[in-house]
Amino acid sequence: MSVIIAPSILSADFANIQRDTEMINQSNADWFHVDIMDGMFVPNISFGFPVVKAIKKHATKPLDVHLMIVDPDRYLNDFKQAGADILTVHIEACTHLHRTISAIKDMGMKAGVALNPHTSVGLLKDIITDLDLVCLMSVNPGFGGQKFIENTYSKTTELKELIIQKNSSARIEIDGGVNQANAGKLMASGADVLVAGNFVFSSDNPSETIAILKQTVAHTL
Ligand code: DX5
Ligand code: ZN
Repeated sequence: MSVIIAPSILSADFANIQRDTEMINQSNADWFHVDIMDGMFVPNISFGFPVVKAIKKHATKPLDVHLMIVDPDRYLNDFKQAGADILTVHIEACTHLHRTISAIKDMGMKAGVALNPHTSVGLLKDIITDLDLVCLMSVNPGFGGQKFIENTYSKTTELKELIIQKNSSARIEIDGGVNQANAGKLMASGADVLVAGNFVFSSDNPSETIAILKQTVAHTL
């Protein structure tokens, strides 16, 4: 299976959002990863609807929107209107997760659930068949450019086993500290989608870095 690469816009140059969006359009990347932070669920604030709309205006690939916000139910429809194709909520922020996932899908978006590094994969047992995506946080959410948490490999394997056992079609996304050194092992552990922010945008040639990441993974499998 070929990997999906989702560069994280959080590390883009916000003063040149159209330029960076077009770079991703023309690269080997598959999705745009769009991080929404509210300063409550995570200790940082990123950006809101006007920026998501601005990206959507120029993007030719799906918008994978990762909500790091409390009470996400209040804003599901706003993110649909802003252009989200895939909408991911945190399990730690949802009291009625099944209801939230159903609402996302009823609005015509793909539905994802994100797990913080300390949150057990086993909690997904009774919802996994309803999900299109599970995002495993491989850093504590809130900032780009953090160090990858090694425990993510075993979580990925465990989640892959659950997905196979339950015959779920959910994809596994890894978010945080992904780079050329860990991409191959992540794919071998069962990952389908790799988010990369700092590794892509801090490089001299982001488009080439995306291509290198994709090739590294292809050669590992
Ligand atoms: C972290 C965000 C990530 C972040 C990844 O809270 O959810 O999507 O942008 O960035 P890097 O690849 O720099 O860790
Ligand atoms: Zn993210």
